[in-house]
Amino acid sequence: MSMSSVNVVAHPLVQHKLSLMREKDRSTKSFREILNEIGMLLGYEVTRDLPLELVEIETPISPMRAPKIAGKKLTLAPILRAGVGFLDGMLALMPSARIAHIGLYRDPETLQAVEYYFKAPQDLSDRTVILMDPMLATGNSACAGASLLKDRGARDIRFVCLLAAPEGIAQFQSEHPDVPIWTAAIDERLNDHGYIVPGLGDAGDRMFGTK
Ligand code: URA
Repeated sequence: MSMSSVNVVAHPLVQHKLSLMREKDRSTKSFREILNEIGMLLGYEVTRDLPLELVEIETPISPMRAPKIAGKKLTLAPILRAGVGFLDGMLALMPSARIAHIGLYRDPETLQAVEYYFKAPQDLSDRTVILMDPMLATGNSACAGASLLKDRGARDIRFVCLLAAPEGIAQFQSEHPDVPIWTAAIDERLNDHGYIVPGLGDAGDRMFGTK
């Protein structure tokens, strides 16, 4: 199978907002608000190719065949906890989407993803699933999240992050070549603790004020 695509969302609003988030003195409130705003903008991009179908409607003036999103039901799948930061922004665009919660934490020693919670709609096989986690660092959490969704039948998964490290992209592409990636930027590298450089620090801690 060919490698999954990486889509860097170069929109100036996304790039500007991302730079604000990287600033180390930015408040928790502001960090959270901007992450939601970027979630909405990335949600716009990741749904760009959803198929449309023409359906009969009536305007106040006349009947017409108007385009509406065809068939596929959407599921938003944030990886806890930082993935939740995208959720409100995405839901603003896709208010009827179902939500799958994927609880994974990163073991600080091994950097491996450890599952502690998973709850998703039953019928993942006929849904488009948008998997989300702001930081694609080692790729371990994103890979584990995609595998859990596939174990529950998901066949159409898209992965959305805010920042990606080249190491994480390589890992994700090798394990999930069928899952395309959307990110606002690709940074230089990972440091010895698995943090993205230059990055923005610990997204979960900054969003929830837990540092
Ligand atoms: N998770 C984060 O929150 N930040 C990183 O830089 C890497 C993983």
